[in-house]
Amino acid sequence: MTRAVRYIAARTLDTAPVKSLPPGPGEVEVAPAYVGICGTDLHIFHGDMDARVHAPAVLGHEMSGRVVRVGPDTEGWQPGDAVTVMPLRWDGTCPACRAGHRHICQHLDFIGIDSPGAMQQRWTVPAATLLRLPDSVPLDRAALVEPTAVAVHDVGRAEVRGGERVVVVGGGPVGLLIALVARTVGAEVRVVELSAHRRLLAGKLGLATWDPAEQNVPELVREWTGDAGADVAFEVSGAAAGMDTAVEVLGVRGRLCLVAIHPQHREVNLHRFFWRELTLVGARLYDRSDFERAVTLVADGTIPAEQLISKVVPLAEAPSAFEALESGGDVMKILVDCTDEAEEAAV
Ligand SMILES: NC(=O)c1ccc[n+]([C@@H]2O[C@H](COP(=O)([O-])OP(=O)(O)OC[C@H]3O[C@@H](n4cnc5c(N)ncnc54)[C@H](O)[C@@H]3O)[C@@H](O)[C@H]2O)c1
Ligand SMILES: [Zn+2]
Repeated sequence: MTRAVRYIAARTLDTAPVKSLPPGPGEVEVAPAYVGICGTDLHIFHGDMDARVHAPAVLGHEMSGRVVRVGPDTEGWQPGDAVTVMPLRWDGTCPACRAGHRHICQHLDFIGIDSPGAMQQRWTVPAATLLRLPDSVPLDRAALVEPTAVAVHDVGRAEVRGGERVVVVGGGPVGLLIALVARTVGAEVRVVELSAHRRLLAGKLGLATWDPAEQNVPELVREWTGDAGADVAFEVSGAAAGMDTAVEVLGVRGRLCLVAIHPQHREVNLHRFFWRELTLVGARLYDRSDFERAVTLVADGTIPAEQLISKVVPLAEAPSAFEALESGGDVMKILVDCTDEAEEAAV
């Protein structure tokens, strides 16, 4: 048995013992060390994803850990290896896979949403999902590799180039990681974020911020860009008002990269798309090369992952950590400590 954090129903989580399956051929059993709570986990917690998530469901897809057992006929891994998991399983045969877009397979199994995730003490996954972590990276920081891979993918989808002016709407963990990755390619970046705490943290990372509740963001963008408007906007807030901001700040031929999950249909100012010849690009997940790049960016400190981690809580306290994030407390990234040591300390 292994203890796990489970989604039961809207706004209800529990921690309970669940069966851990021995690794079969091509599989590896991992002991998750740290697992991040993501905006998407909050969407699940709200009940927004009930059509997809089958309760009781073990959550968690941003993780680091160590290999415990290796299944039969599985090469290349040893117990003790430090790893992170790219939590995607594709069928390889659907039209999307055949066109080379396996990460958005039409029958994708996103491990941690569609099948049991990492917020547990033991987790069996296909060996093909593992990436090795350099010994130099502390495992808590390595839990931020997955959201960093999202950011790498998004900056690539938007084709951000050096010297471009980029507005990131929503300065949560994903938004700040996008801002940091965009900066590595030489873009000038502004972050639009409602929470004072999150703006302060962005400032400590050297990112300039605006408060959309107090400031006229489109006007500030006009001043910043000499009336041209931004080259790229990322919508990472998931809010209707955030989407409006992202559309409004773009200049002629600007690109809007949509990263956030919008569970509802939205009204969008399409006239603006026509008038300025804007482009809307969706961005979902990452591929293996994005993940490898993310391991490097976290390992070499380009992404100061430790500064984004607000708190580490033991597995038993994960449900209250979800409540804290939900109520918009002064937090950025919360990690759940799934190590056996933390579990023993809690007993
Ligand atoms: N495309 C993908 O593959 C992918 C991957 C991970 C997360 N996501 C999605 O991206 C979004 C962001 O993830 P996160 O973990 O950073 O979530 P988060 O909820 O922590 O961050 C969203 C931020 O937007 C801010 N915000 C809300 N309304 C705003 C407004 N009108 N203007 C400016 N800021 C506003 C909030 O204060 C918050 O800080 C979520 O919707 C998540 O589901 C998508
Ligand atoms: Zn497929």
